[in-house]
Amino acid sequence: MSKQFDVVVIGGGPGGYIAAIRAAQLGFSTACIDEWKNAKNGPAPGGTCTNVGCIPSKALLQSSEHFEHAGHAFAEHGINVKGLELNLGQMLARKDGVVKQNNEGILYLFKKNKVTFFHGRGSFVKGDAGGYEIKVAGATEETISAKHIVLATGSNARELPGAPFDEKLILSNTGALAIDAVPAKLGVIGAGVIGLEMGSVWRRLGAEVSVLEALPTFLGAVDEQIAKEASKLFTKQGLKVSLGVKIGTITTGKNDVTVEYVDATGAAQKAVYDKLIISIGRTPNTIGLNGDAVGLKLDERGFIAVDDDCKTNLPNVWAVGDVVRGPMLAHKAEEEGVAVAERIAGQHGHVNFNTIPWVIYTSPEIAWVGKTEQQLKADGVAYKAGTFPFLANGRARALGDTSGMVKFLADAKTDEILGVHIVGPMASELISEAVVAMEFRASAEDIARICHAHPSLSEATKEAALAVDKRSLNF
Ligand code: FAD
Ligand code: NAI
Repeated sequence: MSKQFDVVVIGGGPGGYIAAIRAAQLGFSTACIDEWKNAKNGPAPGGTCTNVGCIPSKALLQSSEHFEHAGHAFAEHGINVKGLELNLGQMLARKDGVVKQNNEGILYLFKKNKVTFFHGRGSFVKGDAGGYEIKVAGATEETISAKHIVLATGSNARELPGAPFDEKLILSNTGALAIDAVPAKLGVIGAGVIGLEMGSVWRRLGAEVSVLEALPTFLGAVDEQIAKEASKLFTKQGLKVSLGVKIGTITTGKNDVTVEYVDATGAAQKAVYDKLIISIGRTPNTIGLNGDAVGLKLDERGFIAVDDDCKTNLPNVWAVGDVVRGPMLAHKAEEEGVAVAERIAGQHGHVNFNTIPWVIYTSPEIAWVGKTEQQLKADGVAYKAGTFPFLANGRARALGDTSGMVKFLADAKTDEILGVHIVGPMASELISEAVVAMEFRASAEDIARICHAHPSLSEATKEAALAVDKRSLNF
């Protein structure tokens, strides 16, 4: 007789492990299956985000920012650093340590919440009574059954045809987080979130970074004014971004990679790099689920097809996170995981796609929520815009980081906030105020009338809200 659970979650990334914890909190007997292995073949729950995504990238972004500041920014504060040296081995080991703490934290949370954890691959098998069971293939093999199954199998880096990842010269995010010596010349294909974040890390550590992007516009999903400002700042930092390129042949030598491409003017180019990161998006991961055997429906792009409630075509089978439509973000996966567990319990799960924040952890950070100005124009929405530069913010001046701005977009008639866009210091933290405001359908005037601590970066948010009605006080 197979082990029985109320809820079995396949995948222990942010979507899966959070769904499992919430299901257990709601009183369901819950299991979570995850196959990720650490260097010692032990369990490493947390998925892409914890192991080769959000967490290690932010650890390296922090370390590399310290290195850059020690080299360039401290002198202005009257701190002279002599004999500055990079110990890349220690930096990478610290990053691995941060990942391990997170893996262990999730195992602890499973224990605390009485979630049964299985280390191995979960796949569908047809059950005796015509339903389906889940086979877990790990160190041992067993079959378990559940009243509800939540699929949270995540995504994988997309390969460029003809240039498979070898993680030595041609790197996905996995290899990009573990380069053991700073490359003199680093090529990056794709000026998206990973390209800019990983490009920033290695540039700060001393690499000459060239980013090749197919689209003619820089950060097309970002508000144009913000993207323009960010582009200016990145160029000043030395990040070279070529837009409108068409990638041709990629060949690897013993210690280098050659990329042939056509640039925006139509001229043929050839560039040789020590390492090449390919970051051109991610594909949903359904490998090994054996969904075909039970008729699990995928959409035309390979995502598990779900409705607005994250229900798949199979009864009592749900799917969340990167493996379903919508932004590939950890917090989106988590919100869907919570919502599904609550729907299983007969409650109303809540995920508002209009208020999911985006952050690019470059320096300065870029963060936004809601509509961009170009989207409002395209939708024919009448709006008012207000901006406030960090240059006019006292705290930013004290920090020594005055780049960027906060931008508010509000409905011309009702003043409801439609979008908030930030490029500047701590944008990732500042955007939360805008998310809360939009979730409560606040107006720009609401933010303008709220007392913000002085001196703080958040005053720039208040001032941008005031600027919507042309009454900012400090600019
Ligand atoms: P995943 O995290 O991919 O987890 C899926 C898990 O399921 C994995 O552990 C996998 O091994 C397991 N699995 C798959 N199939 C099976 C199976 N059949 N049986 C058992 N286990 C299985 N997002 C942010 O919001 N902020 C960031 O700063 C950020 N930074 C990122 C940086 C990088 C370099 C990358 C690559 C991504 C980043 N992301 C970030 C995106 C984020 O990592 C994903 O959106 C998030 O991990 C999706 O969560 P998930 O639970 O859907 O899937
Ligand atoms: P992305 O979608 O952000 O960017 C991919 C870029 O590659 C795009 O600009 C695209 O136009 C370009 N591109 C596609 N094909 C190309 C080609 N053949 N030649 C040249 N350029 C090409 O994808 P990325 O950076 O791989 O990241 C994947 C996802 O991971 C992100 O979309 C995001 O959801 C998530 N992520 C989130 C982070 C965060 O929240 N801070 C950090 C890193 C990743």
